[in-house]
Amino acid sequence: MKGIICYYSGSGNTKLACSYLAAKCRAMDLGLFNIVRDGTPSLSGYGIIGFATFTDFLGVPFLMQEFIRRLPAQNGTPAFVMNTYGYINRENAP
Ligand SMILES: Cc1cc2nc3c(=O)[nH]c(=O)nc-3n(C[C@H](O)[C@H](O)[C@H](O)COP(=O)(O)O)c2cc1C
Repeated sequence: MKGIICYYSGSGNTKLACSYLAAKCRAMDLGLFNIVRDGTPSLSGYGIIGFATFTDFLGVPFLMQEFIRRLPAQNGTPAFVMNTYGYINRENAP
């Protein structure tokens, strides 16, 4: 099976995590798609779609939100999310 991770990475942490996952994953062939650089993806033919981003002020960066909003509806394709962060989350925010 082929999979794809659509990622958004500012300083490289999220990209590094995605690259690691893709390199280590033996269950399928996982490709990477940079949502800033690579334009609009063609998602047909993928058995699973991942969305990876960094945490931006306790939430999902606007660019990733817009990227997902613009995607055409998929027909039951499984998806997953992956998220990097620094320290602050909703539990320990001041
Ligand atoms: C503008 C900005 C906002 C951030 N907001 C949060 C936050 O709310 N909570 C958190 O835990 N980390 C936050 N971080 C830290 C990043 O999520 C973290 O360093 C992440 O791994 C960066 O990923 P990247 O290298 O792929 O851009 C923020 C970083 C930046 C630059």
